[in-house]
Amino acid sequence: MSQIYGSRKDDHVRLAVEQHHLRSAGLELNQFDEVRFVHHALAGSAESAVSLGTEVAGIAWDVPLYINAMTGGSAGTGEINRGLAIAARQTGVPIASGSMSAYLAEPAVAPTYRVLREENPDGFVIANVNANATPEMAQRAVDLIAANALQIHINTIQEIVMPEGDRDFSAWPEHIARIVDALDVPVIVKEVGFGMSAAAVARAADLGVSIVDVSGRGGTNFATIENARRPHEDFAYLGDWGQSAPACLIDAADVARQRELSLLASGGVRHPLDVVRALALGARAVGVSGYFLSVLQSAGVDALVSTIGDWITQIRQLMVVLGARTVPDLAQTDLLLSGNLAEFSRLRGID
Ligand code: FNR
Repeated sequence: MSQIYGSRKDDHVRLAVEQHHLRSAGLELNQFDEVRFVHHALAGSAESAVSLGTEVAGIAWDVPLYINAMTGGSAGTGEINRGLAIAARQTGVPIASGSMSAYLAEPAVAPTYRVLREENPDGFVIANVNANATPEMAQRAVDLIAANALQIHINTIQEIVMPEGDRDFSAWPEHIARIVDALDVPVIVKEVGFGMSAAAVARAADLGVSIVDVSGRGGTNFATIENARRPHEDFAYLGDWGQSAPACLIDAADVARQRELSLLASGGVRHPLDVVRALALGARAVGVSGYFLSVLQSAGVDALVSTIGDWITQIRQLMVVLGARTVPDLAQTDLLLSGNLAEFSRLRGID
């Protein structure tokens, strides 16, 4: 069992990094480029006046940036988790574990996840399970890393492309509701790179969820990754499935406001400007997986620490230029939407 998990996890890392390199170091155009700030040359404030603090479902985070779910379950991915955890500790960003299904099936791999807490004893650490988990399994995942929150990943497209994947998703809403009821930590429902529609966010709110990470299309693509792992690449046509993070944020803004739910954004975030764009579209914080993984794998942990440090500095500098003293102030900036994103907003009846 653990060997199957282990080789799948190693494949995911290898294929995600390859995918990233194919995308010219993550700078290929994606839908974040259809979000532009109107430049107001006299709007600037002072760096000392800017606060990067944000609030996610009542929890204060010092920075609106986090390392999103990736890995664990094999020797190699345990070492990746060590590097990610050190980077989180040194930069103060929250960090999510990869899916802890491997640990729930095979407790011997516990150290490959526990390292997330051992290397980062005082940080904000998030556990991660799939939507088949029982409350008891979710609690075990939280306990292993003394997690401050739990992510439940929702990944129907990934599952159908995986030959060994699930084929029945009908009980997922009920499982989510049970976990929300049973656990003391906040529950985050997240996609894995295909996006969450307004209806999906509303459904999550119905289930008692207070935080949704829309994790949209445009970055790491699990249809393509799982397709490459199949003996025959049957699902090549799914490479473009789903909505981008900017589209999801626009789509779900009203629902999030009405249901008092915090939106997080991830999926295709390439640089600090994408972070600021997502915050301006209403995200409380922004998650990065593929880009940070490729920095860690190609240049090592010190490079990842300085990359995240640079991002935090530059997010602040962009806020200075935009005259936004706080993260919520970014929602008052002037945005121009273009191309397919503008068309998406129009088709969804959003001004
Ligand atoms: C992921 N992602 C992920 N998500 C999750 O909830 N549980 C998981 O186990 C994994 N595993 C995983 C492995 C690897 C190697 C990568 C790169 C990503 C998905 C991740 O959290 C995120 O939703 C997507 O990757 C989109 O963000 P990026 O990569 O475009 O920044």
